[in-house]
Amino acid sequence: MNIDNIKKEFPIFDEKIQNNDLVYLDSANSSQKPKVVLDRINDFYSKQFSNVGRSLHYLAVAATNLYENTRSSVQKYINAKDKNEIVFTKGATEALNLVANTLGQSILEPNDEVLITELEHHSNYVPWHFLRKSKNIKIKFAEINEDGDLPIENIEKEITEKTKVIAITHLSNVTGAVLPIKEITQLAHSKGIVVVVDGCQGGPHLKLDMQDLDCDFYAISCHKMYGPTGLGVLYGKKKWLELPNKYEAGTMATAQVIAFDQSIKFLESIGIEKIIKHEKELIEYGQEILQKNNSVKLIGNPKKRSGVLSFTIKGVHPHDIATILDETGVAIRAGHHCCQILHDKLGIPASARASLGVYNSKDDLDKLNEGISNCKKIFDLK
Ligand code: ALA
Repeated sequence: MNIDNIKKEFPIFDEKIQNNDLVYLDSANSSQKPKVVLDRINDFYSKQFSNVGRSLHYLAVAATNLYENTRSSVQKYINAKDKNEIVFTKGATEALNLVANTLGQSILEPNDEVLITELEHHSNYVPWHFLRKSKNIKIKFAEINEDGDLPIENIEKEITEKTKVIAITHLSNVTGAVLPIKEITQLAHSKGIVVVVDGCQGGPHLKLDMQDLDCDFYAISCHKMYGPTGLGVLYGKKKWLELPNKYEAGTMATAQVIAFDQSIKFLESIGIEKIIKHEKELIEYGQEILQKNNSVKLIGNPKKRSGVLSFTIKGVHPHDIATILDETGVAIRAGHHCCQILHDKLGIPASARASLGVYNSKDDLDKLNEGISNCKKIFDLK
């Protein structure tokens, strides 16, 4: 992968941010957008705009075809069996809420159990929490191990005959742990349990193959996959969805859907295998240099880590780390990353997180490390 060439495809890297070159390490939060996606939004609004799925005039039919083309591209990209298994939503959060509010409402009875994990983002906890209140269901949490990993045994031991749904992340947005979804699905299905996957971080970093994973639902965040904001995808097996269009009521995010086709083409033009290899090298390099940096504590040590490196520095609040790094153009995120359950478990209020995208290089991680050293100097740490 030629990172310099990839970077050139993203106009933001031509900008000076507070007089600095941008070192963008916040892609788990939202990725930057390549020019092809930005141009597509502009072109569609300037030359082809119409609402979709309604009128019969030329522009409306053409726009509807473009919109449906993206559905087919997503189907192909995630290897879903059927185009109608793809539902566009406003985001992954809406997708997960949609599952909880439809499937959850229809199959869950009082005292039934939904099994989630200590790694879950609030988006995959709060929708089930509301069912706990309205339907008197129980939520159980599969525990992480000391490495911040979630071995399948920790799922298995929480399953009872009351477990109806396992709702689980594919890739933790804090520890970077990649979870064995295929094996979890096999286990769940052998007991008649439905599997809902939060694929927000899996989407940009992992090969997506719905037929291989065999999960029932998979939620994707398009803006983390080099696509526009305001758009998510809910993959759902046909047997659950029947008519996906009924979930796309009202005027949809037409331009975003049409532009997302370009994000998929962009990802395909590089190839997910190459992206995985590149990001693995970066993660290994990042772990290596941060581990050498005294007083930095990496969060988790999962067997398979992808996309993110979260850390703390003893004696420095993560918000201060982020602010100091920002002064040199290094953009990271600090906070609980919408994972309060995990941070409570770790006994920390927040962490600092560097997260990767296709445009990152080892240089970016060196700048992160320099920023951390600078931060330690300011706080007079060794
Ligand atoms: N969930 C996103 C993140 O981890 C927003 O930053």
